Amino acid sequence: MLNFEFKNPTKIIFGKGEISKIAAEIPKDQKILITYGGGSIKKNGVYEQVMQALQGHEVLEFSGIEPNPTFETLSKAVTLVQKENVDFLLAVGGGSVLDGTKFIAAAACFEGDSWDLLAKQAPFEKALPLGAVLTLPATGSESNGGSVITKKATQTKLPFGSPLLFPQFSVLDPTVTYSLPEQQISNGIVDAFVHVVEQYLTYPVNASIQDRFAEGLLLTLIEEGPKALENQEEPNYEVRANLMWAATMALNGLIGKGVPQDWATHMIGHELTALHGIDHARSIAIILPNMMQVRRTQKRAKLLQYAERVWNITTGDEEAIIDQAIQKTREFFESVGVPTRLGDYGVKEQDIPAIIEQLTNHRMVKLGEQREVTPEVSRQILELSL
Ligand code: NZQ
Ligand code: ZN
Repeated sequence: MLNFEFKNPTKIIFGKGEISKIAAEIPKDQKILITYGGGSIKKNGVYEQVMQALQGHEVLEFSGIEPNPTFETLSKAVTLVQKENVDFLLAVGGGSVLDGTKFIAAAACFEGDSWDLLAKQAPFEKALPLGAVLTLPATGSESNGGSVITKKATQTKLPFGSPLLFPQFSVLDPTVTYSLPEQQISNGIVDAFVHVVEQYLTYPVNASIQDRFAEGLLLTLIEEGPKALENQEEPNYEVRANLMWAATMALNGLIGKGVPQDWATHMIGHELTALHGIDHARSIAIILPNMMQVRRTQKRAKLLQYAERVWNITTGDEEAIIDQAIQKTREFFESVGVPTRLGDYGVKEQDIPAIIEQLTNHRMVKLGEQREVTPEVSRQILELSL
């Protein structure tokens, strides 16, 4: 196992009816800005619950944070926060609203061009405190310090992060996921699955706990994911609860400690989203099976472990076992309604050079746990994904 430090300061408040507890988490004298997206929270009652809970607090609102939140939109919120001297940010929504709010938290205290937080990974020592009411289990943003922001003007989507950006608390009420459209339920299952794989399927370092936790999360997603899609008119609380907690656990830092991490699939996926508007989860569902295929030699030991412990594939020679594990992964994504080919999203061979160019522009030229995913390797993966 590799050396590590682990601290996750986010308080999780989990369960039905728990939104009311936010009142106790934010001091009464703090001026709050509630941030949200395109209005789903007004249709499913979440907005009302939040407002009810915050009676007696001074509350402002900023709406319109879009999926794949943009620097352009968020900069307007930063201006508002500075003008109104906001003390506390409360993100109410999915990963995009949470990520956008983390950017607002950092940018509001940052002197200079706040895009440098992303483009130059500019260090920062201050950020506003934030909390979250999560409405879409997928990204893990509710319990980590990461954020991914898009600059519309240059079609650039980049990650940044800091321990300062962990939410102080996050409310996870599985019943608020009942209003999710099917596409977003599917996206959440796949995103969480790929988060686990990016931290698990590298090379062995004898990290038994991390491996077993990761395998437990993958098995849970395989078992519970399809159930969430089965009967959406009458959602099952236990199924939604297990999915929600699985997605949080997939990227709250725990399973990634003391082990090598990959993330090449995510970085290539971000370029697909920025250039072609493909949903985040769908972009990585396209890349992951061929990431496994192209890097099967380097990932061999873990691929065999994954095949046996997650997919129960035990017979055949080792190459055939790996082939089956990759095929099972692709079939799982397809079975929860997520197509896995570039062609399914209208992306063609002639689009590949621009994707490679963007990866190079963004210095994504030595990706993966062994830093061997060069633009040439990324090209190979994309070509196999057509
Ligand atoms: O905007 P509203 O109206 O709220 O609608 C949203 C949005 O259209 C809707 N939605 C959310 N909760 C709902 C709901 N509709 C009905 N009922 C509900 N309960 O769903 C749509 C998609 O929301 P979005 O927040 O964009 O989805 P997701 O949670 O998948 O977030 C994706 C973003 O997170 C980033 C991605 O790159 C992408 O930008 N990620 C963040 C990570 C992190 N911070 O650690 C890691 C991830 O790998 C990922 O990169
Ligand atoms: Zn992701």
